[in-house]
Amino acid sequence: MGRFLISGGRPLEGRVKVSGSKNGALPVLFAALLAKDVCYIDNFPLIGDTKAALDILTYLGSEYTLNGDSLTLDTSGAGYRPVPGCLTSPLRASSYLIGSSLGAFGRGDVPACGGCSFASRPIDLHLRAAVAFGAYVEGEAIYGESLRPTDHTLPLPSVGATVNSLLIASSIHGRSRIRGAACEPHIDCLIRFLESMGAQIKRDGSTLTVLGGELHGGRVIIPGDMIEAGTYLCAGMLTGGEVTVSGFDPCELDSALGPLSLAGADISVYPDGAKARGLPTKPLPITASPYPGFPTDLQPIIAPVLASGAGGTIRDLIFKERFGYLSELSSFGVISAPLNDGVRILPSRLKPGRGRACDLRGGASLLLCALSTAGESEITDARTVLRGYSGLCEKLTSLGARIKIL
Ligand code: EPZ
Repeated sequence: MGRFLISGGRPLEGRVKVSGSKNGALPVLFAALLAKDVCYIDNFPLIGDTKAALDILTYLGSEYTLNGDSLTLDTSGAGYRPVPGCLTSPLRASSYLIGSSLGAFGRGDVPACGGCSFASRPIDLHLRAAVAFGAYVEGEAIYGESLRPTDHTLPLPSVGATVNSLLIASSIHGRSRIRGAACEPHIDCLIRFLESMGAQIKRDGSTLTVLGGELHGGRVIIPGDMIEAGTYLCAGMLTGGEVTVSGFDPCELDSALGPLSLAGADISVYPDGAKARGLPTKPLPITASPYPGFPTDLQPIIAPVLASGAGGTIRDLIFKERFGYLSELSSFGVISAPLNDGVRILPSRLKPGRGRACDLRGGASLLLCALSTAGESEITDARTVLRGYSGLCEKLTSLGARIKIL
């Protein structure tokens, strides 16, 4: 799984450009199955999770070439076959096989999907959506000979269930509506891609109206990864340096950059990025909630920023128990205390330590702690972090970090 060795305590300075969004690229990859044609995906991030998704697509008969960050994906040769758990369990996005297989092949399977284990990750809403469109589940198999347009209301704005609902609705002739849909920017990236394939999709707040039908090859540019951007901005603040991050839309991080700025961090925003330096000088109350709220994926990453600053509280309305990473952070000096609906982060003196990357964003948070304290630190299960960050060591090294992977 690999280990990070970090010699921390150096201020990170300079500019870094983020790669394409992991959570934007993954739905697009599975949507390409609906095209049974050649698709062109630019600003594509080649990371652990997208490699795992490409393994699934090639197993189903797709072919691809990658030229830099431009992916050409040909799904014309893809056909239905059960995908083994060894291919689906490394990533949560294999749940998108539900909508893509039903739409492309008229049948699919309930995948043994994996992903970060910071909480239980059910797929009941994905299956309920498929059934609402006329699919039926028999054991592990899902059949979709009689898919029909429908109006479906999601009981909560699940990103994954929104993706699967969009994939199914786009492949069905006729007009469907998806109410209570997720509003994350990566959903709009999928919408742009599906429109380039021939679907007509309109967003009215959290209601999506989809005119689906025959689809063909499409093309899309994956937007910059807002969570990767937030990670490097926090690295700059934590290490006492100044990091400018480009290649993303800073409006997507308004819910994080605004409060940080109000609490005393020095944040500048540009058309294609942002710059951050300095720590918050006032306690920060963070509540993670569906977009455009504070991103749940950023709450583990901002925890050490609060600890090094004036402390604060973190609540997560999406994954209420997503605080397992704090046990690892405690070995780097982060002091926290449970609240009945979240955690309190106390002003702490960070120190070098040893920890394990239990999940993607918790591992990234450990990395930030190690970078911010003078001394040698080690973080095991490095591959867990490399699932979601393209060129991580190169980008950090370009900012002055001393980091290597064994
Ligand atoms: C996506 O996960 C992301 N993963 C997660 O990012 C992200 O944390 C999450 O959305 C929220 O933004 C990918 O895009 C691959 P949900 P997803 O369905 O789709 C409950 C990362 O670090 N729920 O929006 O699985 C669920 O338990 C990863 O990049 C059900 O109850 O999240 C949660 O409480 C980690 N039943 C809430 O909905 C279901 O069938 C929102 O989850 C589905 C979800």
